[in-house]
Amino acid sequence: MRVIIEKDYRDLSKKAALLVASQVILKPNSVLGLATGSTPLGMYRELIQMYQRGEINFSEVSSFNLDEYYRLPHDNPESYHYYMQENFFKHINLKAKNIFIPDGMADDIERECRDYEETIKHSGGIDLQILGIGSNGHVGFNEPAEQLNVTTKLVNLTAETIEANSRFFDSAEDVPKMAVSVGMATILKARRIILLASGENKAEAIKNTISGYVSTKTPASLLQTHPEITLIVDRAAANFL
Ligand code: F6R
Repeated sequence: MRVIIEKDYRDLSKKAALLVASQVILKPNSVLGLATGSTPLGMYRELIQMYQRGEINFSEVSSFNLDEYYRLPHDNPESYHYYMQENFFKHINLKAKNIFIPDGMADDIERECRDYEETIKHSGGIDLQILGIGSNGHVGFNEPAEQLNVTTKLVNLTAETIEANSRFFDSAEDVPKMAVSVGMATILKARRIILLASGENKAEAIKNTISGYVSTKTPASLLQTHPEITLIVDRAAANFL
C-alpha cells in the first residue's frame, strides 16, 4: 500500500487526475471505476481541464460507477447518474454507450446487480478504480457490518452515512435508505486502486484503513490485501498517521 500525503485538497485532486490521465494515456481503452461524493469533484475538474487542453482523450474509455441510490430517478439532482453527467461526462468525450452506472430504478434489482457484474466482466475488468471513503470506513456503499457483500447488491445505508449525505438533500429524511453498490470483491478485482481522502473527518477511517489488520468494521481495511493500492490523502486526513 502506497500512501501519498498532499498538502491540501487542491494538490490531492491534481495528483489523482495525473494518475488517471497516465492510465488513459498508457491504455486509451482503459476501464475506469468511478466514485461520486465531494472528494473526487476536484479530480474531475482537473481531468476536464486536461481534456479541454487536448492532453487526454476519453473516446475509447469505459467507466463503471460504484453505486447509485435505490429508487432515486436519474434526473433527480442528487442521483449519481445526474452527478456524473453534470460533474464529468457532459464535459468530456466519453461515449454514452461506454458509461455504466448501477440502475437503482430497475424493476428487477437482483437481475440488475447480476447484469452489472457481468458487464464489468465482459469489459475485461476494471483497470483503475477510484474510491472515496466514508467517515465510517465504507467504500462504495459497503457499510461496516459483520459480513460484507462480495458482489453488487442492494444494501441498507447506515445512520452515519444517511446523516453524512444529508448535506446534499433538504433533510436526512430525504436521503434514500438503500442503494445499489458494487461489492468488496468487485472493488478488489480492479487491477489498480486509488483511494482519495480529504479532511479531518476522514482521519480516523484512514488510520483504520492502513492499520495492519483487516476488519469488516472498516471495509476499506480490506484494501490492504490488494497488491496495487495507492492512498492519496491531504494532511488533515493524514492527521493520525
Ligand atoms: C460514492 C461512494 C462513497 C463515497 C464516500 C465519501 O460513490 O462510493 O463511498 O466515496 O461516502 O463521500 P465524500 O467524498 O462525499 O466524503
